[in-house]
Amino acid sequence: MITPQGAKHSGPARRGLALPESHRGSLAPVSAAPELPYEGVSYEEEPVNTGYLKAVPEAAPGQTTDVVGRPMPVFKKPPLLDSHGPARVIAVCNQKGGVGKTTSTINLGAALAEYGRKVLLVDFDPQGGASVGVGISPYDLDLSVYNLLVDRNVNIGQVVLKTDIPNLDLVPANIDLSAAEVQLVGEVARESILTRALRPALSDYDVILIDCQPSLGLLTVNALTAAQGVIIPLECEFLALRGVALLKDTIDKVEERLNPDLQIDGILPTMFDSRTLHSREVVNRVYEAFGDTLLQTVIGRTVKFPDATVAAKPITAFAPNHPGATAYRQLARELVSRGAVR
Ligand SMILES: Nc1ncnc2c1ncn2[C@@H]1O[C@H](COP(=O)(O)OP(=O)(O)OP(=O)(O)O)[C@@H](O)[C@H]1O
Ligand SMILES: [Mg+2]
Repeated sequence: MITPQGAKHSGPARRGLALPESHRGSLAPVSAAPELPYEGVSYEEEPVNTGYLKAVPEAAPGQTTDVVGRPMPVFKKPPLLDSHGPARVIAVCNQKGGVGKTTSTINLGAALAEYGRKVLLVDFDPQGGASVGVGISPYDLDLSVYNLLVDRNVNIGQVVLKTDIPNLDLVPANIDLSAAEVQLVGEVARESILTRALRPALSDYDVILIDCQPSLGLLTVNALTAAQGVIIPLECEFLALRGVALLKDTIDKVEERLNPDLQIDGILPTMFDSRTLHSREVVNRVYEAFGDTLLQTVIGRTVKFPDATVAAKPITAFAPNHPGATAYRQLARELVSRGAVR
């Protein structure tokens, strides 16, 4: 069994999905919600969420709930850290394509970097979307995550690139990575190759986010083996739900056989459209099936995300005051409050 040295978190980091007692439970009527300290919160800490709060007509003035009716806490701006590392590794994973994995990896990473966390993004998709999204061209790379996997003489320090965002670094990928899946099949401990490759970087970062490709093949199993947490972005449409059970099955198998530390940090609804009942129904179904694994932050559908991709910037830099940027900052704070990130 190979698990990253020093990456095991005790205390708050292992609280995982635990929510305060007052925020548990099912669809409690909003009137029963406790008083929440919304008075005097800064813009940063407001539970703004791309318009969906407006779609909760029963919310009493001054009180807000999330999409499924849980009281929406104020996720406080996390205090700055006075030291960095060891990193907690989080795989952003869903075998369904186009659900917002790359968008979430980049923007969550950028939001955590804004809060002073040292963040390493690992592009683990031959499409190179995370690399492009932070302004790195996948075509003219000397070294990429592919070399890190297949060449034992290449170490992670040689592959990491700085981005224009302070505190945000990248292990880039390009089409070369598509060959790795086949090449690694015959390797010893083939599921733990990424674990080993990331280990020297753990002490330099607070969080390492792995942008997985849309498959459940060997590369994704490597990401799940290297990770302590998984974030599952889920597009708010019905077909999306079917894949989650399959993904959960894979996560359970990896946990059982390769990585007992693995846990699901949260399911993140993306492309939520507050104007449709459909989006809300999907989120409610996820809550019925997975309970508080469903994150309270929801990412709305907005064309600003593709616009930011074209500009090769996280939305937090491209349109810092847009509700999409605010939502990813809130996600960062929610994950810190859940203990998934320091
Ligand atoms: N909240 C959103 N609202 C609108 N468009 C979005 C949103 N999130 C992502 N997109 C867009 O949807 C497309 C797919 O998103 P993204 O690349 O993040 O998904 P993915 O799961 O990484 O896809 P793949 O499986 O191909 O890797 C992109 O064009 C992206 O800009
Ligand atoms: Mg992607």
